[in-house]
Amino acid sequence: MAVLDQLTSQQAIDLENKHGAHNYHPLPVVLSRGKGVYVWDVEGKKYYDFLSAYSAVNQGHCHPKIIEALKEQASILTLTSRAFHNNVLGEYEEYVTNLFGYDKILPMNTGVEGGETAIKLCRKWAYKVKGIQENKAKILFAENNFWGRTLAAVSSSTDPSAFKDYGPYLPGFEIVKYNDLKALEKALEDPNVAGFMVEPIQGEAGVMVPDEGYLKKAYDLCKSKNVLFIADEVQTGISRTGKLFCCQHEDVKPDILILGKALSGGVFPVSAALADNEIMMTIKPGEHGSTFGGNPLGCKVAMAALKVAVDENLAENAERLGTIFRAELSAFAKENDLVTSVRGKGLLNAILINDTEDSSTAWDICMALKENGLLAKPTHGNIIRFAPPLVMTEEELLDCVGIIKKTLLEF
Ligand SMILES: Cc1ncc(COP(=O)(O)O)c(C=O)c1O
Repeated sequence: MAVLDQLTSQQAIDLENKHGAHNYHPLPVVLSRGKGVYVWDVEGKKYYDFLSAYSAVNQGHCHPKIIEALKEQASILTLTSRAFHNNVLGEYEEYVTNLFGYDKILPMNTGVEGGETAIKLCRKWAYKVKGIQENKAKILFAENNFWGRTLAAVSSSTDPSAFKDYGPYLPGFEIVKYNDLKALEKALEDPNVAGFMVEPIQGEAGVMVPDEGYLKKAYDLCKSKNVLFIADEVQTGISRTGKLFCCQHEDVKPDILILGKALSGGVFPVSAALADNEIMMTIKPGEHGSTFGGNPLGCKVAMAALKVAVDENLAENAERLGTIFRAELSAFAKENDLVTSVRGKGLLNAILINDTEDSSTAWDICMALKENGLLAKPTHGNIIRFAPPLVMTEEELLDCVGIIKKTLLEF
């Protein structure tokens, strides 16, 4: 450990490059510590974290209440598997279902497992309740969706870098244009459609915010055809967009709600699919699960993470600071050709850089932001996402706005 602590950033990067798969292209910064809205690299330089591990660290790095829950439970009981009951799972399930307003939760670990769970629930419901002929159920996905890296996820992807060379693909998925109610209405004419899985804001696609009313109307269209509305809130959930989950902006209660990332405050992989009994009770013992899903350590951590989100009014803070952030950057964009648009909700925001998708400008800006003490990452070639921890203060946010403006002016 002592040796590892002494690694320089370059040595750490070289080790990763030599011994690890090259399946990511990180910004060249090696972090070794985090606290609240800040992270530090191995050389001791301090940065604002403006990505929050893709919205997993909404509660801030190493939140003391979440870490306390982790430590306490870690010395008592960590994993039983679901072969036996444990004394934390039921308490967690009661807490989460009450908070989100569902009959039941199915606990998993990663976000993509939450999505897989939702699809399996939807197909099971299609055959057991809706009465679709076996193996005929279809699930609709929005163009440019992103919900992870499993074969089901890439089978529903429209991004070649996600799906290319991983075929053959899973059948039964169909793509509709995002934010296009006519396209959805048409696709719903097929009686074999069982579900529509959608992100209320498409995060990885570049923080694409649909028109106001889209989610509610999409939900109503699904209801009129007895189709399940499945919300992937892995990135938008847990206060990120100014509500506990994003569909609440339009008073939509999804038939299946998928949560992950900040469900554990970025401390431990915890994800979930939530649904009412008609859907959830279609899956019987032995038909779905995970060794780690519902483990007592994850349950305690997730309960602490949710309590922090509620007790510290993170949704309200995200709403308030997000409004300030967009106002500041929109005003800047009016006077500066480099930024063509500013969009987002709460503290899930992005700016569009006036350059082609294959240009390196956004990357270069992120490199300059790093030099100026703020870490962000392009989502696509010319889009930079800004998603700080939700525990940020207004003063810190304005400091960050200053760094971003100053950096943009250097280009
Ligand atoms: C909307 C959405 N769903 C699902 C996932 C997958 O989560 P995980 O990487 O934990 O599997 C992501 C990850 O970025 C996401 O943004």
